Amino acid sequence: MRVWFLEYATVSWTPSSWREKPIRQVPEYPDPAELAAVEARLKSHPPLVFAGEARNLRRALAQVAEGKAFLLQGGDCAESFAEFHPDNIRDLFRVLLQMSVVLTFAAAMPVVKVGRIAGQFAKPRSEPFERQDGVELPSYRGDCVNGPEFTRESRTPDPQRLMQAYAQSAATLNLLRAFASGGYADLHNVHRWTLSFIAGNAAGERYQALAGRIGETLDFMEACGITSASVPQLRTTDFYTSHEALLLGYEQALTRIDSTSGDWYNTSAHMLWIGDRTRQLDGAHVEFCRGIKNPLGIKCGPGIEEDELLRLIAVLNPDNLPGRITLICRFGADRVADRLPRLIRAVSREGAKVVWSSDPMHGNTIKSQSGYKTRPFDRILKEIRSFFEIHGAEGTHAGGVHFEMTGQNVTECLGGAQAISDQDLSSRYHTHCDPRLNASQALELAFLMAEALRAERINGRGFAASA
Ligand code: PEP
Ligand code: CO
Repeated sequence: MRVWFLEYATVSWTPSSWREKPIRQVPEYPDPAELAAVEARLKSHPPLVFAGEARNLRRALAQVAEGKAFLLQGGDCAESFAEFHPDNIRDLFRVLLQMSVVLTFAAAMPVVKVGRIAGQFAKPRSEPFERQDGVELPSYRGDCVNGPEFTRESRTPDPQRLMQAYAQSAATLNLLRAFASGGYADLHNVHRWTLSFIAGNAAGERYQALAGRIGETLDFMEACGITSASVPQLRTTDFYTSHEALLLGYEQALTRIDSTSGDWYNTSAHMLWIGDRTRQLDGAHVEFCRGIKNPLGIKCGPGIEEDELLRLIAVLNPDNLPGRITLICRFGADRVADRLPRLIRAVSREGAKVVWSSDPMHGNTIKSQSGYKTRPFDRILKEIRSFFEIHGAEGTHAGGVHFEMTGQNVTECLGGAQAISDQDLSSRYHTHCDPRLNASQALELAFLMAEALRAERINGRGFAASA
């Protein structure tokens, strides 16, 4: 083990040791004492998740790291107070389940389902200020910090918003738990929804064959006596939550000692990730995350170097525990072929056990001619295809995908079978931050990935070969 790493590992950690480190992306609260009071209140609020659940997710992700499972992570770029509605939660949950059934069947592997939900409120921004008509105000940093309206009042960070984010997360998680265990997630339901999606989709014919095979399999199982009544696994599912660990005061307040293991867990979500803008080795976000035992994601943008990544992995996962680290790669369709292979080789050379996941959203954002921030479906698909192809060539497991998506029929990303055009974007462009795939675009991607996963399984061929 390298000397620099041993030195780092002996430095003691506490839930507040990040406060001694340089930090980026911090909102400027007018009244720091009010912020401290809110954080103190949160400290006595109940945990949102249990440490045991985070450990189960770590074990499930270890299966992904070993090439025996697939990770599906997705949800809003930024959850919002305005879009808080049971139908929105239900619709995202539903489309994630549909995607997961399609992928499970095609890959013949379990799919680990993780939502960007029940806590995904805080946003890192490229610019601390926004200028409109000569007026400069703080940038919108997510509903847990300030409001999106361009007024001084709305853009001033308000600590009370943390309480609202906590309450919304708790209520969201409560409904998700009910859906996951109360019968809504029944495989037969999920399949019925998928059939109605195909019936209404312009490219539905292409997906018919796969859906037909799933239906036949369910019929066959039923004939053998394997039904939702006899096998609980067919009517329940495991669903986990995740968000970016950005507002460390909030995260610290929800970090607790697990009485079973004596370890520190962040109880605001099962999995946390470190964003591409806050992953400095000597910075506060890495410091905070190294001490909690939850599974961690690291966003890897085009700027990350091999050595930097290896150091991050060593600091965050000194015991090389599989499932602890997920590398969420977001290079962009044009850069993935240049950036990804060298990272894979470095990580493999070091023997580091990681999950490789592709975020095909953040490297493919463009401004449309009419001025909307958008993402073309074809570029998203292209990055996923390259991701699978490169892993095929390197002999590593393309372990998962990470989408910004919603269950609603929004018009934020261009293309897909609905052929959303630049003119269409204005009709239902609702996102508070980045453009999301709508339910149909997300499910189409799952079917397109499925064709390839299946070909890979049957013929040992990579993703590109099946396209
Ligand atoms: C995000 O996931 O919304 C995000 C800001 O990503 P990144 O850190 O990769 O830019
Ligand atoms: Co985003």
